[in-house]
Amino acid sequence: MKSDVFRKMPVEKLLSHNQEGKGLKKVLGAFELTMLGIGAIIGTGIFVLTGVAAADYAGPALILSFIISGIACAFAALCYAELSAMIPISGSAYTFGYVGLGEIWGWLIGWDLILEYCVAVAAVSIGWSGYIVNILNILGIHLPKALIAAPGSGGIINLPAILILALIAGLLLLGAKESAKLNNILVAVKIAVVLLFIILGFKHVEPANWHPFMPYGWSGVFSGAAIVFFAYIGFDAVATAAEEVKNPQKDLPKGIIGSLLICTVLYIVVSAILTGMVPYLDFKDNAAPVAYALSKVGIQWGSALVSVGAVCGITSVLLVMMYGSTRLFYALSRDGLLPKVFSQVSQKSGAPTKSIALVFIATALVAGFFPIGKVAELTNMGTLAAFVIVSLSVIVLRKSRPDLQRPFKVPFVPVVPILAVVFCLFLILQLPTFTKMAFLVWISIGFIVYVFYGYKHSSLNEEKIKS
Ligand code: ALA
Repeated sequence: MKSDVFRKMPVEKLLSHNQEGKGLKKVLGAFELTMLGIGAIIGTGIFVLTGVAAADYAGPALILSFIISGIACAFAALCYAELSAMIPISGSAYTFGYVGLGEIWGWLIGWDLILEYCVAVAAVSIGWSGYIVNILNILGIHLPKALIAAPGSGGIINLPAILILALIAGLLLLGAKESAKLNNILVAVKIAVVLLFIILGFKHVEPANWHPFMPYGWSGVFSGAAIVFFAYIGFDAVATAAEEVKNPQKDLPKGIIGSLLICTVLYIVVSAILTGMVPYLDFKDNAAPVAYALSKVGIQWGSALVSVGAVCGITSVLLVMMYGSTRLFYALSRDGLLPKVFSQVSQKSGAPTKSIALVFIATALVAGFFPIGKVAELTNMGTLAAFVIVSLSVIVLRKSRPDLQRPFKVPFVPVVPILAVVFCLFLILQLPTFTKMAFLVWISIGFIVYVFYGYKHSSLNEEKIKS
């Protein structure tokens, strides 16, 4: 068994999944992919977490936190771009790990991504529920507490969170093209709202609010970077769409790098304006800092519009992250590491129906009955771990498979992937110990699942038994 757990998935076998007429339908181009990336990226991070990060950690130096996290993501994005163009297969980091480092690594990273995506989806749906309840309250509609909060937060069930998850799952059942269409609209609304904030806020910047610039020193800037990292998560989800892309070799790198670039520029400008408009301590315990800043300077209509935009923004994060997790289950199941039912595809829509059902049930259970709180930090931990593996896979595959065609190449290998690893490990160090422990527990469970199920049922193992 010892050597078998490091068996590598042959790239050629994977690429055979990706022929026209097999597997998922090919409907996405570079534009849809960039929109998909922005759809997953701009959301809770910029609309909610910036306030906490500024008030509790970075102060006006929030902009530096965004730059540091942005650099880490840029290095990782280049690595994602190379691998996804070379191996345009559903499963993203899981697939890269399987091909580059071997089955056990691939599985653990897949298991890690299940955690990342499902926890992110559950946490974001609870955030969505909070925003909607707030908007309904303003309209004079008050829902009973028992139905809008989890047991740990003074309720019985968080129904709005479950409802939005059901709606998103239903949409995914219709197929990738329909989901992408709605996503394009939601993304257009949220980019418009972010630009509106920049235009309105710019005139109200008081440079005095930027002093003291670094009230909590560099350590605050670094902790802030580990938190706002959440705001960048999502460009990696573009790679999970690989099998539905018309021209993956060219379009995937464009989608991954393009969406990250656009969001990085927007984030840096927004964080500078936000901390310039309002003293950073005003953001303490503020769940809607962007809307708050506008209302503080007297632009109430702008603040209301930003709230609506935030709801759209958060909805599209849910859409893309849920989409990504269903594609992940699909890939894990197709390779035999999870039961085969999860890779069955609907004849009509081309959607993996059972995967969608599983993701809905898992996320609805968490979102409906658990108060998420700190657990959302697990998303960052899981994603950073995935980035490390992806970056290492670039170096390993350049050595082990120099023959493979690389339509996009990371410059200065191994320097860039090593920098990606160093930046990501540095950000992991900034996360709370609880998060790291919870992550280790999850990974240990994954290890047990592999030993008792995945190892035996892996398609590579079944082929070996047959031959
Ligand atoms: N980047 C996504 C967000 O900020 C996960 O909501």
